[in-house]
Amino acid sequence: MIEFISNTNFAPSNPKAESTGTPPHLQVPSSLNLGHKKEINQPAWADISAKLESAEIKVRIEALLKQYPVAQGALLEVLWIAQNELGWVPNAAVKWAAQVCGCSPAHAWGVATFYTMYKHAPTGRFLLQFCQNICCHIAGAENIISLAEKKLGIKVGETTPDGLFTIVRVECLGACGNGPVMLVNDDFASDVIDGNLVTPANVGLNEERLDKIIAYCKEQTNKPAKKRDPLGGTTGAVHGDPQVADFAPAPPALAVKAAVGENGVVITWKIAPEVSALSVEKKNGKKWEVVGNPSPKDKEFADAGGVAGVQYRIIATSGARVAKPSAIVAAK
Ligand code: FES
Repeated sequence: MIEFISNTNFAPSNPKAESTGTPPHLQVPSSLNLGHKKEINQPAWADISAKLESAEIKVRIEALLKQYPVAQGALLEVLWIAQNELGWVPNAAVKWAAQVCGCSPAHAWGVATFYTMYKHAPTGRFLLQFCQNICCHIAGAENIISLAEKKLGIKVGETTPDGLFTIVRVECLGACGNGPVMLVNDDFASDVIDGNLVTPANVGLNEERLDKIIAYCKEQTNKPAKKRDPLGGTTGAVHGDPQVADFAPAPPALAVKAAVGENGVVITWKIAPEVSALSVEKKNGKKWEVVGNPSPKDKEFADAGGVAGVQYRIIATSGARVAKPSAIVAAK
């Protein structure tokens, strides 16, 4: 969503080295109005290491990595931790995340720049993200963006001198029925009712409501910043947990194998972190019968009565959602 192009330079060998500048082919022509147009001053690793390597963060990272079969699976959340700590994701933090997750800086950079909820430049306390896509455009987004620029005295991509507001243009926010719409940090906002930012159905931004939202934000300066929703505030999922949402299908067990050993058959698998219960089944005639319910933390289960040729499958459950059965494997 944040249309920003800036310093994409990674030092080739030392993952904690400072960036040296934007290569010419990645520099943004000054004629393009793409949000954050200026070169971003990138902090060195030494400037951010205290925050990213604090005892608290180390504990969180350790717990996080245990939830994923491979460390790379935690990359989105590790980047999110960096953003929560620093307010944005500078290049040195992307390299740190790559190290933590055992992947290349190039991969981490690709992920960090693909998902637009990661900020690659410091912003004001309130990042106002105005949708400019087709539905909002037809509903008057350009007028609202111009009004916001005028009222705040800044252009798109700029931050007010008091560090309170940054305005950016974004593409469709998936709330077209409310167009024109905006996000204030991670929350939709088209009005202020009873002292809260809200987005009533089919109520889009107009000048009066924009004024109310700006006034609301200014009032917050005397109050401590709210603790940020670790999932971004828009999913309605359980705070602090992995991204569990009831509308998503439950993830099945993957990479199931059944190997004949000295103590029967050992079944192994990989599962997503949100799986809360497992059931190992084996085929008996035409029926499947449960042979065990290992803990979701387990990575294998031994069926003492198993022999070569017996077929197994695993049923994973996430909360109230039952995943489709895993692939069927024959012991060998
Ligand atoms: S076009 Fe603006 S939210 Fe979809």
